[in-house]
Amino acid sequence: MIATVRRARDLQGEVRLPGDKSISHRVLMFGAIASGTSRVRGLLVGADVRSTARCLRDLGVEIEGDSVVGKGLHGLRPASRPLYCGNSGTTMRLMAGLLGAQEFESILTGDESLERRPMDRVVEPLTRMGAKASWPPLRVGGQGPLHGIEYVTPVASAQVKSAVLLAGLFAEGETTVIEPVPTRDHTERMLRAMGAQVRTADGAVTVAPPARLSPLELEIPGDMSAASFWLVAGGLVPGSRLRMPHVGVNPSRTAFLHLLKEAGFAITMRSEGEAAGEPVGSIEVAGVARPRPVSVDGQTAAAVIDELPAFAVAATQLPGRSRITGAAELRVKESDRIASMAEGLSAMGADITALDDGWEIKGPTRLEGARVRSHGDHRVAMALAVAGLIAEGGPTDIDGAECVDISYPGFFDQLEAL
Ligand code: S3P
Repeated sequence: MIATVRRARDLQGEVRLPGDKSISHRVLMFGAIASGTSRVRGLLVGADVRSTARCLRDLGVEIEGDSVVGKGLHGLRPASRPLYCGNSGTTMRLMAGLLGAQEFESILTGDESLERRPMDRVVEPLTRMGAKASWPPLRVGGQGPLHGIEYVTPVASAQVKSAVLLAGLFAEGETTVIEPVPTRDHTERMLRAMGAQVRTADGAVTVAPPARLSPLELEIPGDMSAASFWLVAGGLVPGSRLRMPHVGVNPSRTAFLHLLKEAGFAITMRSEGEAAGEPVGSIEVAGVARPRPVSVDGQTAAAVIDELPAFAVAATQLPGRSRITGAAELRVKESDRIASMAEGLSAMGADITALDDGWEIKGPTRLEGARVRSHGDHRVAMALAVAGLIAEGGPTDIDGAECVDISYPGFFDQLEAL
């Protein structure tokens, strides 16, 4: 599908965000091993979460409407076919942790993009826990009981941390993960809400195997990473004001708000309470007051990794040189996001140089409508759509725009409505 985006006048109104992708995956997987039925509202219906649901159904889990019927810690049954994870790294890596601890073997496959992404990062710790695990193709499980380990993750990755903690639920003794840089902590919060013992201290997370997990009851908040596109659009399109209610504002996900504020964006946030241990709030953006360039280093990059494509668009309009470094992980996302964004924004006239681990972007530059490519990557498609809103000349045509369905079904309809 080609999406055509034209220069926008001011964007006004309220945006209903899709449910948080990270929390949605976890509710399904953790709910599947709970003792009892979990009830969830606001689950993301995007393709990635559908992949998780399909894998769990293949393992005998009933997921119907807003309920997940938990099988207990030892109730999953072997699937009769390889588990297809589609485009979803979170599905493949977290399922590897869950299934690495089972007595039966599972094979996990994915689409062309996912099959290229690194899985040794979960195979290695699982093997150290005594699991049978190999890649490629990804095969896990079918060995005796695992033992807890202390694992220092070489890459900042919430998926790796979560895979090890999930395996740790089934291991003998405690399992500890030590991270180089803190990453999103939805797994820790949710396991705690389900009654598991999870301790955190000085960058280390420790889980002990629980006797059982209680089912969940929650309304999933809106996805901060989905909000990132509207935050940038509401800042860059003159005269705009956009409000987003019920967004997940877990401190491990709000670094992007601070980054945009540093760049001069007029952003306000109001607390709306908590849902299953996850803070919720509303956010508003109303233009950019005093724009200035900002730099991102490795520490910040890990905290805003999914928002960096949107940030690259913002940086094209900031006066001076913005440098984003320490973000080599972008090279192994759904596409090589460093290359995909450099290609798309260059085609639109931006002054952007791809670095090994980020970009150097000089601004402000006048963007021009052009034909650009998503590379099958949802966040690239949405970021380039935002660039299209401020492009002059002709429209911006985005090739392969259907991939927004991965994390944001209805994105283009909402854009049109605004
Ligand atoms: C996620 C972790 C991040 C993020 C992804 C979702 C998660 O990946 O990019 O969209 O839900 O744990 P990494 O763990 O590879 O950094």
